[in-house]
Amino acid sequence: MLKNRNLVDPMDFTEEELDEVFSLAESIIDHPEAYVHKCEGKILATLFFEPSTRTRLSFESAMLRLGGRVLGFSEADSSSAAKGESLADTIRTVSQYSDIIAMRHPREGSATLATQHASVPFINAGDGGHHHPTQTLTDLLTIRRIKHRFDHLNIGLCGDLKFGRTTHSLTKAMARYANVHFTFISPEELRVPEYIRYNLSQKDVPYQEVERLESVIGNLDVLYMTRVQKERFFNEEDYVRLKDSYILDREKLRHAKDDLTVLHPLPRVNEIAVEVDDDPRACYFEQVRYGVFARMALIMKLLGV
Ligand code: NCD
Repeated sequence: MLKNRNLVDPMDFTEEELDEVFSLAESIIDHPEAYVHKCEGKILATLFFEPSTRTRLSFESAMLRLGGRVLGFSEADSSSAAKGESLADTIRTVSQYSDIIAMRHPREGSATLATQHASVPFINAGDGGHHHPTQTLTDLLTIRRIKHRFDHLNIGLCGDLKFGRTTHSLTKAMARYANVHFTFISPEELRVPEYIRYNLSQKDVPYQEVERLESVIGNLDVLYMTRVQKERFFNEEDYVRLKDSYILDREKLRHAKDDLTVLHPLPRVNEIAVEVDDDPRACYFEQVRYGVFARMALIMKLLGV
């Protein structure tokens, strides 16, 4: 039996495959009418054991726009997980009901486990504080549309770099392009994990770590803001102390380049003042839009249609 193609880790696709996905996404942007029947007769299952607005709804919107159908659940409590069913059994079961599965789960490694039991293509829609590869597809498509390149960029990642899975996946994916420099901006307690720093050092990818956004904002081409991941903290006190570590406002943006691209995977809590939304450098809602096209292209690629 041919093995299913899955997306669990941002490096599961080669550079060439990523280019194919982005070219397809761009073709969908330009000619959406050409794709409205591509997934007719196919079913996407969205299994969300953790809260989500954008990821789940953009997956569902993507499948519906391709002419396919969707089923699933948005809370662990409404599935048999609440009765003690194992993830393996849930995945085996849902494989019989659908042609492709997207799952979000609070446990790191759950996505890899799921691929061992899925008999249809499987997509990791976030596994705990580990990875979120479809957000990375969205981020890369946005960077490609706005910057027209992935190389020669100074990327600042700001906020909760310890628990923020979107930053882990984006760093891993961008590290393979030439002359990318990472600037990690976080409080000491929320530093990027050691294994990520180690991997960058091994590949001689330059990076710096700072605590103050003001000290580096003028050098950045992309600024990726993130929310402090409340649900992954062990105690409320630490969360309250760290939650407002960074607030991007108009005053801070005065020191940034004119062509800075400000991204955020959303949801935003306090990290970006609403006054920034009108700045032409604020691209996070454009990023939301690209999330649908990235997922449409991904679904088509994994289904081979
Ligand atoms: C992110 C996530 O779930 O990791 N959200 C998203 O999918 N766009 C970021 C977050 O929750 O802070």
